[in-house]
Amino acid sequence: MSLILAPSMMSADFDALGAETARLDRAGADMFHIDVMDGSFVPNLAMGVQDIACIRRHTKKPVDSHLMMLNPSKYVSLFAKLGVNILYIHPETDHNPYRTLAEIEAHGMAPGIAVNPGVSFETVRELLPLCRYVLCMGVNPGFGGQAFLPHTVPKIKQLVKHGKELGYTLFVDGGVCPEVVEDLRPLGVTGFVLGQSSLFGLGRPYDELIRGYR
Ligand code: DX5
Ligand code: ZN
Repeated sequence: MSLILAPSMMSADFDALGAETARLDRAGADMFHIDVMDGSFVPNLAMGVQDIACIRRHTKKPVDSHLMMLNPSKYVSLFAKLGVNILYIHPETDHNPYRTLAEIEAHGMAPGIAVNPGVSFETVRELLPLCRYVLCMGVNPGFGGQAFLPHTVPKIKQLVKHGKELGYTLFVDGGVCPEVVEDLRPLGVTGFVLGQSSLFGLGRPYDELIRGYR
């Protein structure tokens, strides 16, 4: 199975975000992962409207937004207007995630949920039929460069199994490094968010690294 690789733009070079997006596009990135943090759901602030618009202008490939914020339903139409293709919410941030996922779909975006290390498969099971993407977190979100939490692997296996039945695409986000890709690929994981330890912090050309994972 070929991999779907999404650079985590929070770790990109912000001195030249547009050029960096174009460089990653040419290097073979399949889509772009944009972390949006509200300082409440996660203890950090990250990426805003202008950043997303800039990335959107510099690639025709799909762009996702991973909303780490409370009450994400308030902003669904804003992200649709920005040209975001895939919108992830954390179910525990929303009073009615089922409704919000349907609203994302109605706005012409692909709905997805992000599943934190402390959220069980059973907790999100009923939402999976509405998801076209699932983002399984390998770290507690908030910062790039954290180590992958191995206790998430049994849940990743469950999500792979149900993805085959339901047809969503599974991504693993957070702490992805070459060894994690090597371990999870045989389990049937095809989507990886590439951050500090798999792309931006390795000091090697993007095209060489992306080709290496294929
Ligand atoms: C975690 C974010 C991730 C993160 C990935 O808070 O949701 O997208 O930036 O970066 P690495 O691979 O560095 O953990
Ligand atoms: Zn993310």
